Amino acid sequence: MTSPISTEVRDGILIVTSNNPPVNALGAAVRQGLWAAMDQLANDEEIKAAVIRCEGRTFFAGADITEFGKPMVEPGLPAVVDKIEASKKPVVAAIHGTALGGGLETALGSHYRVAVPSAKLGVPEVKLGLLPGAGGTQRLPRVAGIEAAAEMCATGNPISAKRAAEVGLVDKIAGEDSLLEDALAFAYAMIGTEPRRSREMPVHGDPAFIQKFATENAKRFRGFDAPAANLRCVQAAVELPFDEGIAFERQEFMKLMFGTQSAAQRHIFFAERQAAKIDGIPEDIKLRDIKKVGVIGAGTMGGGISMNFLQAGIPVTIVEAAQENLDRGVGVIRKNYDASAAKGRFKPEQVDAFMGALTPTLDMTALADCDLIIEAIFENMDVKKETFAKLDKIAKPGAILASNTSYLNIDEIAASTSRPQDVLGMHFFSPANVMKLLEVVRGAKTAPDVLATAMATAKKIGKVAVVSGVCHGFIGNRMLMPRQVEAMKLLMEGATPAQIDKVHVDFGMPMGPFQMSDLAGVDIGWHRDPNRIESVRDALCAKGRWGQKTGKGFYDYDEKRRPTPSAEVQEIIDEFSAKSGAKKREITDEEIVERTLYPMVNEGALILEEGIAQRASDIDVVWIYGYGWPVYRGGPMFWGDIEGNDKIAAGLEKHGFKVAKLLKEKAETKGRFTRPV
Ligand code: 3HC
Repeated sequence: MTSPISTEVRDGILIVTSNNPPVNALGAAVRQGLWAAMDQLANDEEIKAAVIRCEGRTFFAGADITEFGKPMVEPGLPAVVDKIEASKKPVVAAIHGTALGGGLETALGSHYRVAVPSAKLGVPEVKLGLLPGAGGTQRLPRVAGIEAAAEMCATGNPISAKRAAEVGLVDKIAGEDSLLEDALAFAYAMIGTEPRRSREMPVHGDPAFIQKFATENAKRFRGFDAPAANLRCVQAAVELPFDEGIAFERQEFMKLMFGTQSAAQRHIFFAERQAAKIDGIPEDIKLRDIKKVGVIGAGTMGGGISMNFLQAGIPVTIVEAAQENLDRGVGVIRKNYDASAAKGRFKPEQVDAFMGALTPTLDMTALADCDLIIEAIFENMDVKKETFAKLDKIAKPGAILASNTSYLNIDEIAASTSRPQDVLGMHFFSPANVMKLLEVVRGAKTAPDVLATAMATAKKIGKVAVVSGVCHGFIGNRMLMPRQVEAMKLLMEGATPAQIDKVHVDFGMPMGPFQMSDLAGVDIGWHRDPNRIESVRDALCAKGRWGQKTGKGFYDYDEKRRPTPSAEVQEIIDEFSAKSGAKKREITDEEIVERTLYPMVNEGALILEEGIAQRASDIDVVWIYGYGWPVYRGGPMFWGDIEGNDKIAAGLEKHGFKVAKLLKEKAETKGRFTRPV
């Protein structure tokens, strides 16, 4: 097999080129090639310096993640980086695309770094539950300073070449089209000089920044092991000599690597990419062109959906039935953009461009030239069917007609048109301009190219899309239902909303079931008859306890929307509990987990059995990106695998649930839903 690393000598400089598509990951063959290239550099007297560069779309994007968890093939990346650094002849890294993780560490092992202006440099390991384990945590504080190193390591966010040059991480910004020439010139100028080695540079910057940064970001890092481990390593760089710092980094790296959080985060990395693939549809299927989008409904969802397309440079025509609603909807979009501009997220001229690409209208026939039309109106089947029948007469042939319904049957909606092959669901999550998830619902008759186009469009607007089959609530909301039902039952048996919510928040969710209800609106789906009180929820709604928007729901809220438990709510719960005949008792946190989270795994198993989700990892992606399931637990199906499916099945049986066939099978065979990583 030919090596992905090739070398060529030009004017006494060794050009070391990696060609390992798609992202030049530093797999074993690349490491071996780099090793051999460094030997060539050392042994050939004619060669005076080297440039390390990559072909294709990017400089090394990191260690090869697919090798993690498998036996290591020598040489390891830390040894390769050390060898580059130890070279007596200058080595220059020529960076384009994204120098990430082990890629940036390879560049830090090099003595100098030259980058094109569009390059990005970062150590995203923390996003995989790891830390830069090839010396990155020790070399970065020396090269770029404590502040940049701490921030880059703990957040994983890359920095631009310009910023990198400002902090000393890049020595020269090359021309966008003359990287190799500029790197060669740089190397040429260094011939005969003693190489500048990162390990020999003093750590600089303010050590107090590390703790300050940790404190300021405590909320963002809550529950995650890796950010603190990254910061401990940067701290070690401050306190320890280089080699001891490296030993500390290794120790911390190994702990993370063999922990479940990193496994969960790596699982999600691959799950997210896998989700884009549609079983049975070739990846090169010809897509439909989406140049103009129509949105029906200028409410919260319609407005949020429109914003996604406007920001992606796709013009939107937004339709409402009444002028007042249209004006309000457009006003909200403008207000949201102005708020983002005030925070520096957009420039005022960008906001003007977005608003300029939005055409508000009361006339549905204005949608005639749209390539994709998304309906985001009232959640009622008759109204939706009527709208789609109208659309059928207006939309041009080949236009994709999508519904943003969160529960309703797409096939029934599609049947109200003469072109069910062009109809599917595009279920956005609120706030639609922020939440990353998009459930793309495949109807029985949805054409393959329509589905593939919706998935590709989702990527274009920055969403993570997952294919779902048709069922009530699709993947996400369907799994939410058993959780909500059980949470209510637990209230009847003696748990409080605050106790249940706390268990969920401690688990790592952004909020618990009752906090979520209060945020979304307790009155969603309520029959609106204050005299018909058949449930706790009816009673709350009848008393105007509609959630945060009315200042009270399951909790009371102060003017800053801080919740406190409510005596009135407890009274209502007690009353219903007495009526139901439930015996009140002490409920343990463990029971709350078993009765609210285990049923989600069970529902996930049913979703797989029925073929609603293509794969277990898609379910995990839905819950991570749509509902804030903690990424370090990998989503419900991965979590179930770690918890043990036998334990989950036994727990469900203990509490009287019917265990799904597929879950039973996994329990009996000690099998998993997700692939081990
Ligand atoms: N190892 C193995 N495969 C990788 C990879 C990696 N580091 N990075 C990306 N890939 C694969 C993806 O899985 C995907 O495969 P697929 O086509 O079969 O699904 C393919 O490369 C293309 O990736 P993307 O779809 O993500 O392409 P984009 O162009 O959208 O993004 C990227 C490119 C910015 C490089 C993005 O892939 C990325 O962020 N990669 C991960 C970078 C990373 O985390 N590096 C650190 C690794 S850990 C490390 O280095 C440890 C060291 O400190 C010891």
